Amino acid sequence: ATIQWFPGHMAKAIRQLEENLHVVDIVFELVDARIPQSSRNPEIERIIKDKPHLIIMTKSDLADPEQTKNWIKSFKKGGLPAIAVDSKANITTKTITHITQDILGDKLVHEEQKGLKERPIRAITVGIPNVGKSTLLNRLVNKRAAQVGDRPGVTKGQQWLRSSSKLQLLDTPGILWPKFEDEETGQALALTGAIKDQRFASDDVALYALKFFRRYYPQALITRYKLSEADFALSDVDLLLKLTKQFGMKDDYERASNRLILDVRKGKLGRYTLNRMGADDLE
Ligand code: G4P
Repeated sequence: ATIQWFPGHMAKAIRQLEENLHVVDIVFELVDARIPQSSRNPEIERIIKDKPHLIIMTKSDLADPEQTKNWIKSFKKGGLPAIAVDSKANITTKTITHITQDILGDKLVHEEQKGLKERPIRAITVGIPNVGKSTLLNRLVNKRAAQVGDRPGVTKGQQWLRSSSKLQLLDTPGILWPKFEDEETGQALALTGAIKDQRFASDDVALYALKFFRRYYPQALITRYKLSEADFALSDVDLLLKLTKQFGMKDDYERASNRLILDVRKGKLGRYTLNRMGADDLE
């Protein structure tokens, strides 16, 4: 989904999210495991205030596992519990239910002590477009028993969906916009396919990809495109020109750029994490 964000859209998205926050116990903030920083909305903390909060790193099947570990540590160090999921493969309902119960522990115990009946935990998923909100929601929700139906507290037209007997999810995710804080953030969002509009020239994004893979995953480039050592001495631009010829695209390096970008997005160059989190940063 391509969304053009204007100030009016942002204000409306915040308003909707703020309304929904009143009826949930916890926020599941989805970030793309390949870009755990660039796919976060910088306003999120301000919007959700002190609501309990779990970071769910989606698409972890595409990300560098070592980096994902570092990021989870880094989030935790900042006081944010985090987990990584592959919504296309494994069932994560149990894990997510358990973590959520852990996070809310005190609150739930407190309610019981006050004599309140046990009730399901209610959560909302939030994140930028394409981060995997609907995929995860579908994965977490038992479709046969999905709709819990109208309940007090839910904004008109919205539904609680049953994930487990202990967890219910609001059917309407909160949509946040990415922030193009700097050029690299924009290029990282474009390279992963988080944004698919033409805001960024494909050759710029392809050059960013070449530079990045040369630095962090050189072997992946060499293997995928059968490069030699001599090719590695070329500048990024000359390497892109070489690949263009190799793809049989003459001097159409825009087309070649798009090919390279698609390869990266599809994981043809292996798993990668664009936003780097060094183990040293976690000492
Ligand atoms: P959204 O609701 O947040 O907008 O995202 P949505 O669930 O529609 O997911 C966007 C794309 O990301 C989908 O691909 C979906 O299959 C993919 N995706 C979501 N979670 C994961 C995951 O954990 N691993 C992998 N590998 N992919 C995931 P799509 O429909 O094919 O669209 P696209 O690939 O053309 O973007």
